Amino acid sequence: MENALNLDTVVLAENEEDMIILDQTLLPNETKYLTLNKAEDIWEAIYKLRVRGAPAIGVAGAYGYYVLARQFDTEDMDEFVKKCTEMMEYLNSSRPTAVNLSWALNRMHEVLLSEKEGKTVAQMKERLKEEANAVREEDIQISRNIGAYGYELLKAMGDEVGIMTHCNAGTLATAKYGTALAPVYIALENGWDPKKIHVYCDETRPLLQGARLSAYEMQAAGVDTYVQCDNMASYTMKSGKIGIIFVGCDRVAANGDFANKIGTSGVAIIAKHYGIPFYVCAPSSTIDMTMESGDEIHIEQRKPEEVTEMWYKERMAPEGVGVVNPAFDVTDHSLVTGIITEKGIAYAPFKESFEKMGIKPVTKYVDKK
Ligand code: MRU
Repeated sequence: MENALNLDTVVLAENEEDMIILDQTLLPNETKYLTLNKAEDIWEAIYKLRVRGAPAIGVAGAYGYYVLARQFDTEDMDEFVKKCTEMMEYLNSSRPTAVNLSWALNRMHEVLLSEKEGKTVAQMKERLKEEANAVREEDIQISRNIGAYGYELLKAMGDEVGIMTHCNAGTLATAKYGTALAPVYIALENGWDPKKIHVYCDETRPLLQGARLSAYEMQAAGVDTYVQCDNMASYTMKSGKIGIIFVGCDRVAANGDFANKIGTSGVAIIAKHYGIPFYVCAPSSTIDMTMESGDEIHIEQRKPEEVTEMWYKERMAPEGVGVVNPAFDVTDHSLVTGIITEKGIAYAPFKESFEKMGIKPVTKYVDKK
């Protein structure tokens, strides 16, 4: 089984004209890469979760911006900016909840607007390529730093740990290492016995990111790995096997409320009941200081078929029944022990903690209120 750290989730192709993504919808059974250079294909890959996980979507947004911008056939800077503006709005419409997509698109656009004076369109295209590569490179280092802070928490628990996670916030969800699973990778690098790291992966209905992706990543790394249906989380927590919970997230509001994969808030509520520390792992780019609380976070609603038909041999709910399919939920900050970022661990009151870390609201060209 290929170690997932060896799989690149999103990269720029050698020709520097296309982007290459690992198609995560096929994992763990098939490892297939897709070469993308058309706006509709990039949009579709993000919408269908071929590339997924907040930081990886951010990297895909940055490369998407560059790959499409380089194709705009104009020497006129105003026209180039207009085309880029339309293109970024289109890409941003593919998935609304993870702030990392709009964050990366806004970052690329800011580079264009602030550096275009005195430059040709061709020079700006080169500059945008550099910036997209920087977004990816930085994400690798950020994930490692998150992993290092999380590893300190593991060390404090002894030399054997039980970890629960929800969805997939591993290397597949980032450029490398992941957020919620990064502490495990760092522990392994530090010589921990993989059999003394017990990771319980919630299956994560309806798209099975836990069963297909987290369980695959952890097992391929040699870790003692379990998959459980989402409704088994309380049973496992009560059994005393879980010492800590790490989850990723898609957007954190200034007060510490955060959106993550549907089901996360339930895990947090159960963890509080059993007194299990519950940590959110997030690059600082996932913290949206323009939103005061989680009430402002837009929750993506997805197609009913994901619940009634997908993965089954035949439909498993009566025709015509109503279906609820929010892709994310918001967990209240009162349930969060700490938010692990690349700058350190934030504790309540979160807004003050974020401000001390220097996390500020960013200029938004897309994803405006
Ligand atoms: O719908 P997905 O698979 O993109 O949702 C992913 C999650 O909810 C992750 O926990 C989150 O994006 C953080 S990934 C480091």
